[in-house]
Order: sequence, then structure tokens, then C-alpha cells
Amino acid sequence: MKTLSACSLLSLFALLATGCNQNADQSNRAAPLSGVAVIDLDEVARELGSDKQIASAIEKRKEVLNTKLGDLAKGYMAEFQKQKDALEATPNQGDSSVQLASYQQQVNKGLSTARAQAQQNLTQHRGKLITQFRDAVLPAARRVAKQRGMSVILTKQDSLLYAYEPEADITAEVVSMLEASMAKTAAAPAPAKKQ
Ligand SMILES: *[C@@H]1O[C@H](CO)[C@@H](O)[C@H](O)[C@H]1NC(C)=O
Repeated sequence: MKTLSACSLLSLFALLATGCNQNADQSNRAAPLSGVAVIDLDEVARELGSDKQIASAIEKRKEVLNTKLGDLAKGYMAEFQKQKDALEATPNQGDSSVQLASYQQQVNKGLSTARAQAQQNLTQHRGKLITQFRDAVLPAARRVAKQRGMSVILTKQDSLLYAYEPEADITAEVVSMLEASMAKTAAAPAPAKKQ
């Protein structure tokens, strides 16, 4: 049963779906896979400072969204006050407290919708930033894996259930490669300034 559940879990990762039915009763221990590279994306992000960049980009977006929400709330409050003043200026036009309560309800609904949208916006932004980071790392990971004759790349997070040899870990090499290419970009001669 153990093997079975491990297999169904792993099939989520698609890359390793093959081989799941082999030796099902013989061993719960996965043999180290040859040709598989493992990369720790969290570690890459930490080493390159991308984790902090992503966090601060998310923080910035959060501030923008919070400002927007604040402005929206202010607008609603001003409108509420206007309606209240108008109702008070014209008495005997029905029960103003009922009308105000109903408007208050609309305001609450509008605000809670806006908050949910802002939250979704933030989640989407985060997903986009992480995808961008992965996409930026992938070419280097492919190059390192290819150099070492590995054809499959797993993230460490995907491969937790697998026993892999330390040699399968290409994280450090990928970091070096990315650092080198970043240094090259930074050291590229700046366009000559004419004075
Ligand atoms: C998310 O919020 C930003 C900043 O307010 C805005 O520019 C962008 O259009 C929003 N995206 C969506 C999908 O609502």
C-alpha cells in the first residue's frame, strides 16, 4: 500500500511516472535514478537574491492595491455622507435610516468584492513572478544537466520522495552559471558617454 500511494503521488509530477509499477512488492526504496538532475529552486532564489526581489515586488504591489482600496473606501464614505446630508435636508421622504442602512450594505459589498479582487490580483502577481524566476533559471539548469548527461530535471521540492545521490544535485553549478552570466551583464562596458 505504501508503494501504491507513493506512486500515485509521484504520478502528479509526470516526469517520473514511468517505472511506478515495477518491483511494487519488492521494495519501497526507490533506486537512485540515473540521468535525473535535481535542483533546489529555493536555494537558487536565496543565492541570487531573487527571493528578496520577489518579496519586495509583492510588497510593492500590495501597497498599490491597499492605496486603491483606501481611496475606494474614502469615495464610498464621501458618497455616503452626501446621501445622508441629502436625506436629512429633505425630511418626510420616507425612512432615511432604512435607506442609509441599505446603502451601507451596498458599500460593504462593494468593498468586500474589491478586497477579494485585490487578493486575487496579488496571488496572480506572485504566481507570475515565480514563473518568471523559474523560466530564468531553466536555461542554465538545462545546460548544466546536459553537460552532465542528465536528461530529466526535477526540483528538490518535487523529488522529496526519491532517494537521489548528492551528485544528482546541480543547484550549485546552476547558481554559479547564473552568477557568471549576471556578472558578465553587469561588467559589460557601459555605452560611452559623450561629454
Ligand atoms: C492588479 O493590480 C495592478 C495595480 O493596481 C493593476 O495595474 C492591474 O491591472 C491589476 N490586474 C488585474 C488583473 O486586475
